[in-house]
Amino acid sequence: MSVFTFCHIYALLVVLVVLRGTTSLDDLKICSTPDCPNEHIEVADEIAGTIHRYSQNAANFQEAKASRSPAKDVEPRGHVNGQSPEAIVTAQRQHPVNAVEENIFWSATVEGAIPPGLSYSVTEGWKKRIRQLRVVKVENASIDKCGSNMNRHVVFDDGTTACARYRHPMVQFVLGDLYCYYLGRMIGLQNVPTVVLSHVSNDSSSQWSSVTADIRNAGWKNDTVASFSLWIDNIGKSHLPEIMFNNQRGTIYPSTPGFADLNITTLVELAQFSDLVIFDYITAHLDRMTIRKNAVEYYQQDWLYKGEVHNLAQHKSNGGLWFIDNENGLFNSYPVAYSKANKEQMQGYHEELLRSFCIFRRSTFKNVHGLARMEDPFNALDMAVHHNEPVTKMMEEVKKSFMVGLKERFKQRLLNVVHWMDECQSRSSG
Ligand SMILES: *[C@@H]1O[C@H](CO)[C@@H](O)[C@H](O)[C@H]1NC(C)=O
Ligand SMILES: *[C@@H]1O[C@H](CO)[C@@H](O)[C@H](O)[C@H]1NC(C)=O
Ligand SMILES: *[C@@H]1O[C@H](CO)[C@@H](O)[C@H](O)[C@H]1NC(C)=O
Ligand SMILES: *[C@@H]1O[C@H](CO)[C@@H](O)[C@H](O)[C@H]1NC(C)=O
Repeated sequence: MSVFTFCHIYALLVVLVVLRGTTSLDDLKICSTPDCPNEHIEVADEIAGTIHRYSQNAANFQEAKASRSPAKDVEPRGHVNGQSPEAIVTAQRQHPVNAVEENIFWSATVEGAIPPGLSYSVTEGWKKRIRQLRVVKVENASIDKCGSNMNRHVVFDDGTTACARYRHPMVQFVLGDLYCYYLGRMIGLQNVPTVVLSHVSNDSSSQWSSVTADIRNAGWKNDTVASFSLWIDNIGKSHLPEIMFNNQRGTIYPSTPGFADLNITTLVELAQFSDLVIFDYITAHLDRMTIRKNAVEYYQQDWLYKGEVHNLAQHKSNGGLWFIDNENGLFNSYPVAYSKANKEQMQGYHEELLRSFCIFRRSTFKNVHGLARMEDPFNALDMAVHHNEPVTKMMEEVKKSFMVGLKERFKQRLLNVVHWMDECQSRSSG
C-alpha cells in the first residue's frame, strides 16, 4: 500500500521543474509587469494525480486543464442547479454591508446571502433514490469530470448522473470521502456533495448488473465497494479572494484593512471560506489550501497562493462554494500529517490556515463546540456513518489499519478549533 508522504510532493515539484527546463528553482524570478514572458512552473498534486500550471505572471495564473464543464448527452435529472441568485442581487443593493455581528459572527445579511446548498431532505432523498437506481452507462472519468484514475462517470436508468469513486484496495480514499461528507453534515455544512456507497457486484440483483462488461473493462473487482457522489451542475473554478491572499499568513478580523470596503459577493465567499478552513483543519485535508501553502513555502513565492483553489468549485450563477473531493481527508491524511517527517511542516500549514479567520458562521461555531464537547466525537461520526451506510461494514478491515491514533487526533483537532474560536471570542469582547 502506498501512502504518500508530503515530501513526495517536494520531490515531484523538483522533478517536474527540472524536466520542463523552463526554469529552475534557483533562478525562479517572478515577473510582475503586464508583459511577462509566458513561462510556467508546474506543481504536481500527486494525491489527486493532477498537475497545476502556475504562470510566472501571477495575474495570468492558469491551470493545465482549462475546462471543467462536462459533456452532456443526457438530460440530467435530480441535480442541484439554478439556485436563485436573487438573494445576492437583493443584498448587493444594500450598502454599506453590515458584515459582522458581535465582532465575531457573519451577520444575518451575509448569512442570508449564502447559497443554501443541500438541505437535509435533498441530500437524504438523493441517497435513497440512488440506492434504488440501476447504472445503465459507465463513462471514463477525466481530470475535469469525476477525477482520474479508476473513477467513472455513471448514468442511471432515470437519467441521473453521478461520479463513481473506486479505489479498491485503497478504500481509505472512499472512506475519507464518505466520512468527510457525514462530518460536514454534523457541523452543519450543506456544501459537501452527498456520498452514497454501492456494493460492486455482477450479481443480477446488483445495481451494476447491466454494465458488468464496463466494470470489468474498468478493472473493477467483483464484490468490492465504490461510492457515488452527487454531481453538481454548473460549477466552475473558484478563486481566492484578494483579502485572503493579502493576509495569507495572518488573520482576517472585522478590523483588517480593506475589510470594511468588501461587497456582499466577496463577504459571502469569505463566510464560506471561513467554513472551509475549519473543515479542512479537522479533516487535515492535504489537497486544497494546504498544497498551495506548500508551494508558497517551497518556492518562497507568495503569489503562488493566488488563483484557482484546487478541489473547491464555485457555482457559476449563485457563487456558492462546493467542497468537492475529500477523499484524502481523515484516513489518508492523518498518518501523513502526523508522520515524523511531515509533522512540523504540516502542523504549521494547518494552524496557519485555521487562523485565517476570526469571523465564523454561528452554526459552525456552535456545532463544532458541540462535537468537541463529546467524550468520543469520532465514535459519534462513526455511528452516524454506519447507521446511514450499512455497506461501510465491508471496509472495516482496511479502516482498522488507519485507526491508530485517529480518535485522539480527531478530538484534539476539534479542541484546537474550539480553542481558536474561543480566543477570537474573548478578543472580540475584550
Ligand atoms: C476509456 O479509457 C480506456 C483506458 O482506460 C480506453 O481504453 C478507452 O478507449 C476509453 N474509452 C473512451 C470512450 O474514451
Ligand atoms: C463476474 O465477476 C467475476 C469476477 O471478477 C468474473 O470472473 C466474471 O466473468 C463476471 N461475470 C460477469 C457475468 O460479468
Ligand atoms: C460476485 O460477488 C458476489 C457477491 O457480491 C457473489 O455472490 C458472486 O458469486 C460473485 N460473482 C462471481 C462470478 O464471482
Ligand atoms: C465585489 O468585489 C469584487 C472584488 O473586488 C469584484 O471583483 C466584484 O466585481 C464586486 N462585485 C460587485 C457586484 O460589485
